[in-house]
Amino acid sequence: MASCPLLLLGLVALFHGSVSAEQRRIPAENLLVITAATDETDGFNRFMRTAKEFNYTVKVLGLGEEWKGGDVARTVGGGQKVRWLKKELIKLSEQKDTVVLFVDSYDVIFASGPEELLLKFSRLGHRVVFSAEGFCWPDQRLASKYPEVHSGKRYLNSGGFIGFAPDLAAIVQQWKYKDNDDDQLFYTRIYLDKTQRTKFNMTLDHRSRIFQNLNGAVDEVVLKFERAKVRARNVAYDTLPVIIHGNGPTKLQLNYLGNYVPTAWTYENGCGNCDDDLLFFNDVPDAQMPLVYMAIFIEHATPFMEEFLDRLATMNYPKGRIRLFIHNNVVYHEQHIHQFWERHKDLFPDAQLVGPEENLQEDKARTMAVDACKKDPECDYYFSIDSDVALVNPDTLRILIEENKSVIAPMLSRHGKLWSNFWGALSPEGYYSRSEDYIEIVQAKRIGLWNVPYITQAYLIKGSVLRSRLSQVQLYQDDGLDPDMVFCRNVRDQGVFMFVSNRDEFGRLVSSANFNTSRLHPDMWQIFDNPVDWREKYIHENYSKIFEDEKAFVEQPCPDVYWFPAFSDKMCDHLVETMEDYGQWSGGSHKDERLAGGYENVPTVDIHMNQIGFEKEWLKFLKDFISPVTEKLYPGYYPKAQAIMNFVVRYRPDEQPSLRPHHDSSTFTINIALNNKGRDYEGGGCRFLRYDCRVESPRKGWSFMHPGRLTHYHEGLPTTRGTRYIMVSFVDP
Ligand SMILES: *[C@@H]1O[C@H](CO)[C@@H](O)[C@H](O)[C@H]1NC(C)=O
Ligand SMILES: *[C@@H]1O[C@H](CO)[C@@H](O)[C@H](O)[C@H]1NC(C)=O
Ligand SMILES: *[C@@H]1O[C@H](CO)[C@@H](O)[C@H](O)[C@H]1NC(C)=O
Ligand SMILES: *[C@@H]1O[C@H](CO)[C@@H](O)[C@H](O)[C@H]1NC(C)=O
Ligand SMILES: *[C@@H]1O[C@H](CO)[C@@H](O)[C@H](O)[C@H]1NC(C)=O
Repeated sequence: MASCPLLLLGLVALFHGSVSAEQRRIPAENLLVITAATDETDGFNRFMRTAKEFNYTVKVLGLGEEWKGGDVARTVGGGQKVRWLKKELIKLSEQKDTVVLFVDSYDVIFASGPEELLLKFSRLGHRVVFSAEGFCWPDQRLASKYPEVHSGKRYLNSGGFIGFAPDLAAIVQQWKYKDNDDDQLFYTRIYLDKTQRTKFNMTLDHRSRIFQNLNGAVDEVVLKFERAKVRARNVAYDTLPVIIHGNGPTKLQLNYLGNYVPTAWTYENGCGNCDDDLLFFNDVPDAQMPLVYMAIFIEHATPFMEEFLDRLATMNYPKGRIRLFIHNNVVYHEQHIHQFWERHKDLFPDAQLVGPEENLQEDKARTMAVDACKKDPECDYYFSIDSDVALVNPDTLRILIEENKSVIAPMLSRHGKLWSNFWGALSPEGYYSRSEDYIEIVQAKRIGLWNVPYITQAYLIKGSVLRSRLSQVQLYQDDGLDPDMVFCRNVRDQGVFMFVSNRDEFGRLVSSANFNTSRLHPDMWQIFDNPVDWREKYIHENYSKIFEDEKAFVEQPCPDVYWFPAFSDKMCDHLVETMEDYGQWSGGSHKDERLAGGYENVPTVDIHMNQIGFEKEWLKFLKDFISPVTEKLYPGYYPKAQAIMNFVVRYRPDEQPSLRPHHDSSTFTINIALNNKGRDYEGGGCRFLRYDCRVESPRKGWSFMHPGRLTHYHEGLPTTRGTRYIMVSFVDP
């Protein structure tokens, strides 16, 4: 009961607070928001979206007019904004109850609604309030003329101010300068004039109760997550600003905050950049789909190139609406391009292929491709894809178009790694820096569209943006810098937002680091670096079904002899071709040494995995793909998946057709057929003597698995025609 009076006191205090606020309350209808913008830039659209989110009514001055206010990002200027405001406010100079908020829009977002804004404005107790910052700009000599403040930012910033209409109208009526004169200097002079300051009852929002200028204050602003809500808080003054301004060099920090503010962000639903009104193409006839210039860049030798090229042909997009450009700078890949082209050239009208013989540098190739879209008024989108991208989602292009952004990349990362195709933040030198949310985005723990400073490897650009806001820049060329760095810098500098989407799963990045093209089938060696691509290419398509439906996908032709799908046809072929290419088939003398300690010596014509440098990779295959099957079929046995006897055996009628009965020096043995009975050879198979049980029709890619010692004494039945290949591994010797 003791807590009762305290509770009451609290309630009374709360009550008083709201009553006094109530007395000064300015109704939201009395607020007019004014901004000035000549172009509907991405920043402007973001501003308008946040305004709409909080139900602000915004009057935009200057849209469609030519900007004459100078390059305010780098120098002084902005006078044109005051001229427009002067004209606008003269109409309101008698409306003493109207409150006008003027804000920039390209680099501003709202973080809360009109009610909170007006409440905070009235609590500041002045008729005119300008935002404040820590830098005295543009004339530092004026710094000493500012009144002292004991806490907070001292200097005026004119990117945001609020006041009663008659006062603001009177202030801007004093403007009589040129369009490229400085607006901030104009307001500063008025504020520093004590007579005017008193007359207009002016103050600055020193502690960011309303306006948060980020320049010089980036470290003061943090995102506070509370259950499903997020809000930017100034931790230096413990305030919750209503308007956030990415002034000066803080555009990227604003982009970061803009990913979360204003839309309450939750794990379940999207982010501040996700539009509900997507472009949809469900019922659009193929011939009317947007025209996409799709450019492929093969700048270095890349694993899984055939699969990459095949995906172009199986994309879910009308190929007649794609103009394909391929820059291949790698002689090794000419064979793959050639095969692809022979098979699919009819799909891609007007394609352009540039091969290594043309010696075209990467930056020039990228320029050539993007310029083709820029110059064709019919080109709706430019889609750039590098060879180390595996876009396994066939709808990627459609999805990206539907998001309706100027520039957008599908989020891609290396399987199980944090390496991705975007950066969440930039270092001061313009290189990679890890944003606080980077890992959560890569791991798709936060889902949405993310405005980021750097994207690479796959992205879509609107043709209209190439022909307007990006028309004056050489997007990829700048001596000494990587084309992707140049590209992102140029796009950022033009105020065009780059988004990365992880709303859908699009695919992954392929690693090319250890790709050794001096091997016959180098992809076989990619089991470590690119395990998912390796599995898709080399493991039997029904392998995983062993674990879902054992009855249908595992057979038991003899007691304790299991038979299941393991290799894809490609793996079988590549392994045989690699062995034949290596060619040093042996008659078994080397085997005696390896079998030292074993009790059988049955020489075969074979080549071992370590001879072709594939032993590490083979053991990885045993561990990842055979051990799980063993554990399932022989419950209670946990293989160490060690094996030193791993070899391909060749049987021929005139060489070695069969193998006499023997035990294997293994706990269990796997034996995978590498070619087709009937087509490639006749005869062959295996007989288990103890059970007098034969398996005579091996299937290509299927593996036998049987115990090695003691029970499964067996022989290889004679091959009567052609050549039979099997892959044998003695596991856990
Ligand atoms: C905005 O207005 C709509 C309709 O008048 C209302 O449903 C919504 O709650 C308002 N949003 C905010 C943030 O006040
Ligand atoms: C500003 O105006 C408010 C009320 O409108 C008044 O209380 C306050 O004293 C004025 N401040 C100055 C510095 O004139
Ligand atoms: C797509 O974006 C443009 C530019 O931001 C906008 O004008 C247009 O209304 C958007 N279309 C849809 C369907 O949202
Ligand atoms: C590349 O493969 C060849 C065999 O084809 C081998 O001799 C060489 O050592 C390999 N290089 C590397 C770096 O692994
Ligand atoms: C995989 O299994 C299905 C039947 O479930 C069969 O139709 C298909 O041919 C099998 N794939 C291969 C490569 O054998």
